[in-house]
Amino acid sequence: MTDGLYRQDPLLPEQREEFEEDLVSFCDRELDLLGDLGGLEVLYAGGSSLLWIEGLAQRVGERGSVTALDADGDRVEATRGNLGNADLPAPVRIAAGDVLRPPFGPRSFDLVYSAGLFHELDVGEGDAARALSALAAVTRPGGRVATGDFVDSVPAAQLEDERLDAELAEASLGKKLFGVGPPERLVTLHREVLSGVRWRVCPPVWIRHLDRVVLAEDEPAHLSGLPPGTAERLRGRREALRERVRREGYTRPATVYVEGTVPGGRRG
Ligand SMILES: C[S@@+](CC[C@H](N)C(=O)[O-])C[C@H]1O[C@@H](n2cnc3c(N)ncnc32)[C@H](O)[C@@H]1O
Repeated sequence: MTDGLYRQDPLLPEQREEFEEDLVSFCDRELDLLGDLGGLEVLYAGGSSLLWIEGLAQRVGERGSVTALDADGDRVEATRGNLGNADLPAPVRIAAGDVLRPPFGPRSFDLVYSAGLFHELDVGEGDAARALSALAAVTRPGGRVATGDFVDSVPAAQLEDERLDAELAEASLGKKLFGVGPPERLVTLHREVLSGVRWRVCPPVWIRHLDRVVLAEDEPAHLSGLPPGTAERLRGRREALRERVRREGYTRPATVYVEGTVPGGRRG
Protein backbone atom coordinates (compact mmCIF):
# COMPACT_ATOMS: atom_id res chain seq x y z
CA MET A 1 0.00 0.00 0.00
CA THR A 2 1.51 3.30 -1.01
CA ASP A 3 -1.30 5.75 -0.20
CA GLY A 4 -0.37 8.55 2.17
CA LEU A 5 3.35 8.16 1.66
CA TYR A 6 3.86 11.55 0.08
CA ARG A 7 3.95 13.25 3.49
CA GLN A 8 7.71 12.62 3.64
CA ASP A 9 8.33 12.21 -0.04
CA PRO A 10 11.57 10.28 -0.49
CA LEU A 11 11.46 10.81 -4.28
CA LEU A 12 12.81 13.61 -6.42
CA PRO A 13 10.12 15.24 -8.62
CA GLU A 14 11.18 13.32 -11.76
CA GLN A 15 11.30 10.06 -9.80
CA ARG A 16 7.85 10.75 -8.44
CA GLU A 17 6.59 11.28 -11.98
CA GLU A 18 8.04 7.92 -13.10
CA PHE A 19 6.63 6.20 -10.01
CA GLU A 20 3.14 7.58 -10.66
CA GLU A 21 3.37 6.76 -14.37
CA ASP A 22 4.07 3.11 -13.48
CA LEU A 23 1.22 3.01 -10.93
CA VAL A 24 -1.15 4.27 -13.62
CA SER A 25 0.14 1.64 -16.12
CA PHE A 26 -0.40 -1.12 -13.56
CA CYS A 27 -3.91 0.12 -12.82
CA ASP A 28 -4.69 0.41 -16.56
CA ARG A 29 -3.44 -3.10 -17.24
CA GLU A 30 -5.69 -4.52 -14.51
CA LEU A 31 -8.76 -2.46 -15.49
CA ASP A 32 -8.39 -3.30 -19.19
CA LEU A 33 -9.04 -6.95 -18.26
CA LEU A 34 -12.64 -5.93 -17.48
CA GLY A 35 -13.34 -5.20 -21.16
CA ASP A 36 -15.88 -2.60 -22.31
CA LEU A 37 -17.52 -0.94 -19.29
CA GLY A 38 -19.36 1.86 -21.14
CA GLY A 39 -22.63 2.82 -19.39
CA LEU A 40 -22.32 0.27 -16.54
CA GLU A 41 -23.18 0.90 -12.90
CA VAL A 42 -20.07 -0.34 -11.11
CA LEU A 43 -19.36 -1.09 -7.46
CA TYR A 44 -15.64 -0.85 -6.67
CA ALA A 45 -15.51 -3.04 -3.56
CA GLY A 46 -12.82 -2.80 -0.89
CA GLY A 47 -10.91 0.26 -1.99
CA SER A 48 -11.12 4.00 -2.36
CA SER A 49 -7.94 5.17 -4.03
CA LEU A 50 -8.59 7.92 -6.54
CA LEU A 51 -6.32 6.23 -9.10
CA TRP A 52 -8.63 3.20 -9.43
CA ILE A 53 -11.86 5.19 -9.12
CA GLU A 54 -10.67 7.56 -11.85
CA GLY A 55 -9.75 4.63 -14.13
CA LEU A 56 -13.20 3.11 -13.65
CA ALA A 57 -14.98 6.46 -14.13
CA GLN A 58 -13.15 6.99 -17.45
CA ARG A 59 -14.23 3.55 -18.62
CA VAL A 60 -17.93 3.74 -17.64
CA GLY A 61 -18.32 7.31 -18.97
CA GLU A 62 -21.17 9.71 -18.33
CA ARG A 63 -23.91 7.11 -18.89
CA GLY A 64 -22.50 4.87 -16.11
CA SER A 65 -21.60 5.38 -12.46
CA VAL A 66 -18.96 4.30 -9.95
CA THR A 67 -19.60 3.60 -6.27
CA ALA A 68 -16.60 2.80 -4.07
CA LEU A 69 -16.95 0.92 -0.77
CA ASP A 70 -14.10 0.81 1.75
CA ALA A 71 -14.01 -0.27 5.40
CA ASP A 72 -11.29 2.27 6.12
CA GLY A 73 -13.13 5.48 7.04
CA ASP A 74 -9.94 7.59 6.93
CA ARG A 75 -9.21 6.53 3.33
CA VAL A 76 -12.84 7.22 2.40
CA GLU A 77 -12.64 10.72 3.87
CA ALA A 78 -9.30 11.44 2.19
CA THR A 79 -10.64 10.41 -1.24
CA ARG A 80 -13.89 12.34 -0.73
CA GLY A 81 -11.71 15.39 -0.01
CA ASN A 82 -9.78 14.91 -3.28
CA LEU A 83 -12.79 14.11 -5.47
CA GLY A 84 -13.68 17.80 -5.83
CA ASN A 85 -10.49 18.49 -7.86
CA ALA A 86 -10.74 15.36 -9.98
CA ASP A 87 -13.28 16.37 -12.69
CA LEU A 88 -14.38 12.79 -13.36
CA PRO A 89 -16.44 11.89 -16.44
CA ALA A 90 -18.97 9.75 -14.48
CA PRO A 91 -20.96 10.22 -11.27
CA VAL A 92 -18.93 8.85 -8.35
CA ARG A 93 -19.92 8.22 -4.75
CA ILE A 94 -17.83 6.77 -1.96
CA ALA A 95 -19.26 4.83 0.97
CA ALA A 96 -17.66 3.62 4.19
CA GLY A 97 -18.69 0.06 4.99
CA ASP A 98 -17.94 -3.64 5.04
CA VAL A 99 -18.11 -5.87 1.94
CA LEU A 100 -19.62 -8.55 4.19
CA ARG A 101 -22.63 -6.25 4.69
CA PRO A 102 -22.67 -3.91 1.67
CA PRO A 103 -24.96 -0.94 2.41
CA PHE A 104 -26.87 -1.24 -0.90
CA GLY A 105 -30.08 -2.88 -2.00
CA PRO A 106 -30.01 -6.27 -3.77
CA ARG A 107 -29.28 -6.22 -7.52
CA SER A 108 -28.00 -2.64 -7.54
CA PHE A 109 -24.97 -2.97 -9.86
CA ASP A 110 -24.04 -4.36 -13.29
CA LEU A 111 -20.47 -5.09 -12.22
CA VAL A 112 -18.80 -5.50 -8.84
CA TYR A 113 -15.01 -5.30 -9.03
CA SER A 114 -12.26 -5.43 -6.44
CA ALA A 115 -8.51 -4.93 -6.79
CA GLY A 116 -6.38 -6.15 -3.90
CA LEU A 117 -9.30 -6.54 -1.50
CA PHE A 118 -9.22 -10.27 -0.86
CA HIS A 119 -5.68 -10.58 0.51
CA GLU A 120 -6.57 -7.97 3.14
CA LEU A 121 -9.94 -9.47 4.03
CA ASP A 122 -10.32 -10.47 7.70
CA VAL A 123 -11.63 -14.01 7.33
CA GLY A 124 -11.96 -14.28 11.10
CA GLU A 125 -15.00 -11.99 10.70
CA GLY A 126 -16.60 -14.15 8.00
CA ASP A 127 -15.07 -16.36 5.35
CA ALA A 128 -14.13 -15.11 1.89
CA ALA A 129 -17.02 -17.00 0.24
CA ARG A 130 -19.43 -15.04 2.42
CA ALA A 131 -17.87 -11.79 1.21
CA LEU A 132 -18.12 -12.89 -2.42
CA SER A 133 -21.75 -14.01 -1.93
CA ALA A 134 -22.58 -10.65 -0.35
CA LEU A 135 -21.05 -8.88 -3.38
CA ALA A 136 -22.93 -11.19 -5.78
CA ALA A 137 -26.19 -10.32 -3.96
CA VAL A 138 -25.84 -6.63 -4.86
CA THR A 139 -25.09 -7.50 -8.51
CA ARG A 140 -27.94 -7.77 -11.01
CA PRO A 141 -28.64 -11.27 -12.35
CA GLY A 142 -26.53 -11.75 -15.46
CA GLY A 143 -24.06 -9.12 -14.20
CA ARG A 144 -20.44 -9.83 -13.35
CA VAL A 145 -18.36 -10.05 -10.20
CA ALA A 146 -14.65 -9.62 -11.00
CA THR A 147 -11.60 -9.79 -8.77
CA GLY A 148 -7.97 -8.82 -9.22
CA ASP A 149 -5.42 -9.68 -6.56
CA PHE A 150 -1.81 -10.63 -5.97
CA VAL A 151 -0.86 -14.32 -6.13
CA ASP A 152 2.22 -16.19 -4.91
CA SER A 153 3.19 -17.95 -8.15
CA VAL A 154 6.34 -15.82 -8.69
CA PRO A 155 8.78 -15.10 -5.80
CA ALA A 156 8.74 -11.42 -4.79
CA ALA A 157 9.87 -9.18 -1.93
CA GLN A 158 6.32 -7.84 -1.70
CA LEU A 159 5.04 -11.33 -0.83
CA GLU A 160 7.22 -11.37 2.30
CA ASP A 161 5.95 -7.85 3.08
CA GLU A 162 2.33 -9.06 2.78
CA ARG A 163 3.09 -12.06 5.04
CA LEU A 164 4.62 -9.73 7.63
CA ASP A 165 1.57 -7.42 7.44
CA ALA A 166 -0.71 -10.42 7.98
CA GLU A 167 1.30 -11.66 11.00
CA LEU A 168 1.34 -8.19 12.49
CA ALA A 169 -2.43 -7.80 11.98
CA GLU A 170 -2.99 -11.12 13.75
CA ALA A 171 -0.59 -10.43 16.64
CA SER A 172 -1.75 -6.86 17.26
CA LEU A 173 -5.42 -6.78 16.19
CA GLY A 174 -6.43 -10.47 16.24
CA LYS A 175 -7.28 -10.28 12.51
CA LYS A 176 -6.91 -13.38 10.34
CA LEU A 177 -6.20 -12.08 6.85
CA PHE A 178 -7.02 -14.18 3.78
CA GLY A 179 -3.50 -13.32 2.56
CA VAL A 180 -1.82 -13.97 -0.78
CA GLY A 181 -2.03 -17.55 -2.08
CA PRO A 182 -2.02 -19.51 -5.33
CA PRO A 183 -4.36 -18.31 -8.13
CA GLU A 184 -6.45 -21.49 -7.88
CA ARG A 185 -7.64 -20.51 -4.39
CA LEU A 186 -9.43 -17.40 -5.67
CA VAL A 187 -10.67 -19.26 -8.76
CA THR A 188 -12.22 -22.01 -6.60
CA LEU A 189 -13.84 -19.37 -4.41
CA HIS A 190 -15.48 -17.72 -7.44
CA ARG A 191 -16.68 -21.09 -8.77
CA GLU A 192 -18.51 -21.67 -5.46
CA VAL A 193 -20.63 -18.55 -6.01
CA LEU A 194 -20.66 -17.63 -9.73
CA SER A 195 -21.20 -19.30 -13.08
CA GLY A 196 -19.07 -19.14 -16.25
CA VAL A 197 -15.91 -18.38 -14.27
CA ARG A 198 -12.85 -17.46 -16.35
CA TRP A 199 -9.45 -16.37 -15.16
CA ARG A 200 -5.90 -15.52 -16.10
CA VAL A 201 -2.63 -14.86 -14.34
CA CYS A 202 -0.67 -11.75 -15.35
CA PRO A 203 3.07 -11.24 -14.83
CA PRO A 204 4.42 -8.85 -12.17
CA VAL A 205 4.55 -5.15 -13.03
CA TRP A 206 7.70 -3.35 -11.94
CA ILE A 207 7.11 0.06 -10.36
CA ARG A 208 10.08 2.39 -10.59
CA HIS A 209 11.31 3.80 -7.25
CA LEU A 210 8.81 1.80 -5.18
CA ASP A 211 11.83 0.42 -3.29
CA ARG A 212 12.75 3.95 -2.12
CA VAL A 213 9.16 4.60 -1.06
CA VAL A 214 8.99 1.33 0.90
CA LEU A 215 12.39 1.85 2.55
CA ALA A 216 11.30 5.32 3.71
CA GLU A 217 8.25 3.94 5.56
CA ASP A 218 8.24 4.14 9.36
CA GLU A 219 8.10 1.00 11.46
CA PRO A 220 4.43 -0.04 11.80
CA ALA A 221 2.97 1.62 14.91
CA HIS A 222 1.45 -1.65 16.20
CA LEU A 223 4.89 -3.32 16.51
CA SER A 224 5.87 -1.46 19.66
CA GLY A 225 2.68 -2.59 21.47
CA LEU A 226 3.43 -6.32 21.04
CA PRO A 227 4.99 -8.63 23.65
CA PRO A 228 8.79 -8.13 23.45
CA GLY A 229 9.54 -11.60 22.00
CA THR A 230 7.00 -11.22 19.18
CA ALA A 231 8.07 -7.63 18.46
CA GLU A 232 11.74 -8.67 18.24
CA ARG A 233 10.95 -11.58 15.90
CA LEU A 234 8.88 -9.40 13.56
CA ARG A 235 11.50 -6.61 13.69
CA GLY A 236 14.15 -9.15 12.63
CA ARG A 237 11.98 -10.28 9.71
CA ARG A 238 11.34 -6.66 8.74
CA GLU A 239 15.05 -5.85 8.76
CA ALA A 240 15.82 -8.94 6.63
CA LEU A 241 13.14 -7.83 4.17
CA ARG A 242 14.61 -4.32 4.01
CA GLU A 243 18.05 -5.84 3.24
CA ARG A 244 16.45 -7.89 0.47
CA VAL A 245 14.74 -4.78 -0.96
CA ARG A 246 18.09 -2.92 -0.95
CA ARG A 247 19.62 -5.84 -2.87
CA GLU A 248 16.91 -6.75 -5.39
CA GLY A 249 14.46 -3.83 -5.27
CA TYR A 250 10.82 -4.17 -4.25
CA THR A 251 10.05 -7.08 -6.54
CA ARG A 252 6.34 -7.50 -7.17
CA PRO A 253 3.98 -10.45 -7.28
CA ALA A 254 2.01 -11.70 -10.26
CA THR A 255 -1.73 -11.00 -10.21
CA VAL A 256 -4.77 -13.10 -10.98
CA TYR A 257 -7.88 -11.76 -12.69
CA VAL A 258 -11.00 -13.85 -12.16
CA GLU A 259 -14.58 -13.09 -13.13
CA GLY A 260 -17.89 -14.87 -13.19
CA THR A 261 -21.55 -14.20 -13.85
CA VAL A 262 -24.31 -13.91 -11.27
CA PRO A 263 -26.84 -16.62 -12.14
CA GLY A 264 -30.22 -15.57 -13.54
CA GLY A 265 -30.92 -12.94 -16.20
CA ARG A 266 -30.30 -13.26 -19.92
CA ARG A 267 -26.51 -13.74 -19.64
CA GLY A 268 -26.53 -16.01 -16.52
C1 LIG B 1 -4.70 -3.47 -0.58
S1 LIG B 1 -5.97 -2.33 -0.34
C2 LIG B 1 -6.66 -2.24 -1.96
C3 LIG B 1 -6.48 -0.91 -2.49
C4 LIG B 1 -7.43 -0.62 -3.62
N1 LIG B 1 -6.87 -0.99 -4.89
C5 LIG B 1 -7.85 0.83 -3.56
O1 LIG B 1 -8.21 1.36 -4.58
O2 LIG B 1 -7.88 1.41 -2.49
C6 LIG B 1 -7.28 -3.22 0.46
C7 LIG B 1 -8.46 -2.35 0.77
O3 LIG B 1 -9.51 -3.23 1.20
C8 LIG B 1 -10.21 -2.57 2.26
N2 LIG B 1 -10.92 -3.61 3.02
C9 LIG B 1 -10.40 -4.65 3.71
N3 LIG B 1 -11.39 -5.38 4.26
C10 LIG B 1 -12.56 -4.79 3.89
C11 LIG B 1 -13.91 -5.08 4.15
N4 LIG B 1 -14.27 -6.14 4.91
N5 LIG B 1 -14.86 -4.28 3.64
C12 LIG B 1 -14.52 -3.20 2.88
N6 LIG B 1 -13.23 -2.89 2.59
C13 LIG B 1 -12.26 -3.66 3.10
C14 LIG B 1 -9.13 -1.88 3.04
O4 LIG B 1 -9.65 -0.85 3.84
C15 LIG B 1 -8.23 -1.35 1.91
O5 LIG B 1 -8.66 -0.08 1.49
